[in-house]
Amino acid sequence: MSRRPVVAGNWKMNPASADEAVALARDVAARVAGGSPLTVLCPPTIWLSAVAEAVTGQQVRIGAQNMAAEESGAYTGETSPLMLRRLAEFAIIGHSERRRLYGETDEGVRDKVASAVAHGIRPIAAVGERLEERQAGSTAEVVERQTRAAIGRLDRIAGSGLVIAYEPVWAIGTGEAATDADAQEASALIRATLAELDPTGAEEVPILYGGSVTADNAAGFFAQPDVDGALVGGASLQAAGFAAIVAAAARVSNR
Ligand code: PGA
Repeated sequence: MSRRPVVAGNWKMNPASADEAVALARDVAARVAGGSPLTVLCPPTIWLSAVAEAVTGQQVRIGAQNMAAEESGAYTGETSPLMLRRLAEFAIIGHSERRRLYGETDEGVRDKVASAVAHGIRPIAAVGERLEERQAGSTAEVVERQTRAAIGRLDRIAGSGLVIAYEPVWAIGTGEAATDADAQEASALIRATLAELDPTGAEEVPILYGGSVTADNAAGFFAQPDVDGALVGGASLQAAGFAAIVAAAARVSNR
């Protein structure tokens, strides 16, 4: 990994209380050494303030799990980039659960990515094929389409802070991770797609693998030339296991 690795924990709708969220964040922060991988915690929106405050000055960064494209107005239940930017350095955009359960579209992802960049928030844009798309042989087509859409309103990639997460939907929360080779193939395709817009910028972008990443399988992904880290769901809720994934990223990047 020549790029600085990024290991992001997507806590999804967990834990149930601010106290537990703060305790988990503190536990992670205490276990990750300073230095190489950028360690990002993405708590639920309601715990962002408490978690951000609890880890101020420590070696972990904060991300939101979603973000509205708009700055303010009649958007019930949404959180704007103006609200997030003081708390969160990153925002996951277009996670497959948002696409599947909340109707997020490629166009919506495009607008959110552009809005995040415009407001100084680093988007972690999630792309990945569903099982039926993989079975139909359209993995590459889906990954390219979603990647092109995600950058559709950016003029250039260099300096944007963009991060892409390749998350095959069938691998999320199933215990059935992609193979290292599949993750590499999709990541190389994503980088080539980014390079159509900005060849230099494409080399800067951390591309993460997500989908049933654990302390046991992480190193294999990180050894791939185009995989620069991980977006971790279930395993990010246990501080020790999550810190072990960060340590695996540190080992590969120090080689
Ligand atoms: P998982 O989730 O690690 O639990 O598979 C990954 C994600 O949804 O980002």
